[in-house]
Amino acid sequence: MVKLSIRYPVLKDAKPFLDIITNPHFRYLHVPAQTIKDEEKWLRSLPEKRKSNQEWNYAIIYGRKLIGGIGIKIDSHRPYIGEIGYFIAEEYWGRGLASRAVKLVEREAFKKLKLRRLEIVMRPENKASEKVAIKNDYRKEGKLKKFGKDRQGVWRDFWLYAKVL
Ligand SMILES: CC(C)(COP(=O)(O)OP(=O)(O)OC[C@H]1O[C@@H](n2cnc3c(N)ncnc32)[C@H](O)[C@@H]1OP(=O)(O)O)[C@@H](O)C(=O)NCCC(=O)NCCS
Repeated sequence: MVKLSIRYPVLKDAKPFLDIITNPHFRYLHVPAQTIKDEEKWLRSLPEKRKSNQEWNYAIIYGRKLIGGIGIKIDSHRPYIGEIGYFIAEEYWGRGLASRAVKLVEREAFKKLKLRRLEIVMRPENKASEKVAIKNDYRKEGKLKKFGKDRQGVWRDFWLYAKVL
């Protein structure tokens, strides 16, 4: 099996990240970065976000190639709760790689960051993302009404999945 690992992103990841996230088939994930400069700005902000325990973001490395990203956003009011988000380059979809990346990031979340509860939220239409949560034993806790806007600015409901220690 090809090795899958995660590491903190670095500035030179801007291009591969941008190539992946600007895929128009990413229907349910909206990332504001549109240029290399935007992406570099975001990458430069990450050390401070880790220092202040706001966000822990990682590049997903398959063999030696950057094929996606995964991150944990810490709830600022309840710092024992984190929300996991992820994306994988389309040519690598359906190989179980997002599911493996969730396992890797859980280790960081529970062991290093000492979180007690991890959440994954997704649009009900995003069956691939829901499957990633289910395969990693997250429990469906319910529907978050009008939790976020889609690309057209319409408010949408999301499923809430969670795993607790
Ligand atoms: C969601 C995403 C990260 C999944 O990555 P992945 O590496 O393909 O995920 P996995 O292979 O681990 O698991 C996906 C599962 O969903 C299944 N699946 C994919 N599309 C599906 C669909 N339309 N209906 C039902 N199941 C589907 C796959 O068959 C697979 O299940 P299996 O392992 O039982 O065969 C990837 O599709 C992606 O990057 N999407 C765009 C960004 C995004 O939506 N991120 C999540 C925001 S909540």
